[in-house]
Amino acid sequence: MKRFMMLMGAVALLTMGWTASSAVAGVQDTMKEGVGNVLNGRLIFDNGVGDDVPACAGCHGSAGMGSDEMSTPRLAYQVQKYIWKQLEDFASDKRMDNAMYQMNDIAKALTEEQRRDVAAYVHTLKTPSLGSDLDAMRKDGEDIGVVYKGKIIVKFGVPERNIPACQSCHAFNGRSAGNMYPVIGGQNYNYLKHELEAFRLGATTKSSDDEAARDNDPMAQMRKVAVLLTDEDIANVAAFLTVSRPSTAGNPSAPRH
Ligand code: HEC
Ligand code: HEC
Repeated sequence: MKRFMMLMGAVALLTMGWTASSAVAGVQDTMKEGVGNVLNGRLIFDNGVGDDVPACAGCHGSAGMGSDEMSTPRLAYQVQKYIWKQLEDFASDKRMDNAMYQMNDIAKALTEEQRRDVAAYVHTLKTPSLGSDLDAMRKDGEDIGVVYKGKIIVKFGVPERNIPACQSCHAFNGRSAGNMYPVIGGQNYNYLKHELEAFRLGATTKSSDDEAARDNDPMAQMRKVAVLLTDEDIANVAAFLTVSRPSTAGNPSAPRH
């Protein structure tokens, strides 16, 4: 017990040292990346703000899971910096909501601080990764891609067509490498397809000319990949990604980001 207490003391000292030096970095991060007020973010997410901002939960679900019917994305535990950037991009029309045509007005009606707060909140939602129910969607007659073919692209790319492995940027099973690279594993099937088609169009057409295009990816990283994908590739990677899980065999915990 005594040894345990001494150990704890040492850990406390180490932690204090770390806190002092990281406090400065913390302030800088706040300015850059938007470390927000989680509680305020929750209020916005659940209730909206006044008449102009509807509750996010209405379309993204109370647990932040999104929905295939509405083509809304899962936001739960998405990389905070990525969520914040998307809200900034919607607010400045760098990204157009080309599914329900609401996100641009919603993001504009929020203050910069509120955008930070809600990004911080959705990052805390640790809803288990479920993805889309592909069997149910197949039964409804939807055209669903082939999971194993998508897996090959996500893991290895298609070298003869210059398609890189998705996991070279999005990490194992699309669980995200943090920072600018979003989680795409466990994301909803229809949303994944929709975004890949939008990036593919964005490779040749500006979103200011055609709202269906998405071109807000830094250094055109996604457009360069998406332009190489066929409709079939898109359906296949979306099918694999939606059912893929963030944990690795033998290690049940998903990584933190
Ligand atoms: C009327 C329905 C609706 C409401 C309400 C709504 N959203 Fe959305 N949201 C969408 C749709 C649809 C998309 C996908 C847009 C697209 O594909 O172009 C989206 C996309 C997003 C994205 C991009 C996610 C990603 O993975 O790139 C973020 C972030 C987001 N919404 C946050 C919010 C927040 C925060 C609120 C509440 C303040 C909110 N949404 C309210 C429909 C809605
Ligand atoms: C060179 C790095 C890179 C590679 C390789 C890459 N991506 Fe991406 N991807 C990104 C970046 C960066 C973003 C975020 C764009 C932004 O900030 O708006 C992104 C965004 C996405 C999104 C949108 C996520 C959302 O929530 O809206 C999807 C879907 C996606 N990538 C799928 C793929 C697939 C599938 C592949 C493989 C075929 C792939 N990516 C390969 C860098 C990459």
